[in-house]
Amino acid sequence: MRFDILTLFPEMFAGYFNHSILQRAREAGHIELAVHNIRDYAPGKHRITDEPPYGGGGGMVLKPGPIFSATEAVMADAGSRDIPVILLTPQGRTFTQQVASELAAEPQLILLCGRYEGVDERVRRHLVTDEISIGDYVLTGGELAAMVVVDAISRLLPNVLGACGAAECDSFSTGLLEGPHYTRPEEFRSWRVPDILRSGHAAQIARWRREEALRRTWMRRPDLILSAQLSEEDKLFLARLAIEQVERDLEKPKDK
Ligand code: 6GU
Repeated sequence: MRFDILTLFPEMFAGYFNHSILQRAREAGHIELAVHNIRDYAPGKHRITDEPPYGGGGGMVLKPGPIFSATEAVMADAGSRDIPVILLTPQGRTFTQQVASELAAEPQLILLCGRYEGVDERVRRHLVTDEISIGDYVLTGGELAAMVVVDAISRLLPNVLGACGAAECDSFSTGLLEGPHYTRPEEFRSWRVPDILRSGHAAQIARWRREEALRRTWMRRPDLILSAQLSEEDKLFLARLAIEQVERDLEKPKDK
C-alpha cells in the first residue's frame, strides 16, 4: 500500500516513519511512504502557501493552488485519478479501527495535512473525498493525525506484524481490551507473575486470558462489551463479574 502525504512540514515525519515496525515494513516493500512539501508546488519567488481569509478575521488559510497542484502531481505519477484524498481535520469523521480497516483495502491514499485556521473551502468541495479527525481535541495541524492514520492502517496489512503479536488478536479487533501481560522476572519487588501463566496448561491459559480481557473491558469500557462476540462461557463469566460488583456495592457504606 502506498501513502502520499502532503504537508508544509515534511521533516516532522522522518522520526516516526524511519523506526521500528514502519521502517521494517517500508524496507520489506509492504508499504511505500512519500512525503511531499506543499510549498514545492507554490509558484513565485516567495512560494506562498497561505494567506489571510477573505472577509477578515484572524489566522491564515491554505491557498487552493499549491494543494491542487501537489495532489494532481501525485495522481499523474500514479497514472490514476481515483485515489482517495483525505483531509486531516478536527471536522472530519472520527477515525476508528473500523475506518482503519476500510482504508486498509485501498492500494493508495493521499493524506492532506491541514494547518492554521484551515484550507480554502474549494479544496474541501472539489478535491477532497474524505475528511478524518483522530478525536475530539484540537491539534496544531494534521501531521500527527496523518502519522496515526498511517500507523493504524499499516499494521493491518498482510505481513507487517509478525505472527500473533498481531492485529487479529489485539484490542478492538477481538472487540475487547487486552488483558495483562507479564515477562521475566518471575518475581519483581515481591510482585509475582500469576501461577497459571507458568503452568504450561495451554487451554487454561487461553481461558484465563479471555476472562482477564473480559474483566478489563467490563471495568474500563463497558460500551465495548455490547458489540463484542461473546460465547456462552463468556456471558456466564460476565454475569459473575456483575454479581461480584453488586455484592461490593452493597457492602459499601452509603454516603450521607
Ligand atoms: Cl486530523 N487535525 C487537527 N488539527 N486537530 C485534530 C485532528 C486533526 N484530529 C483531532 N484533532
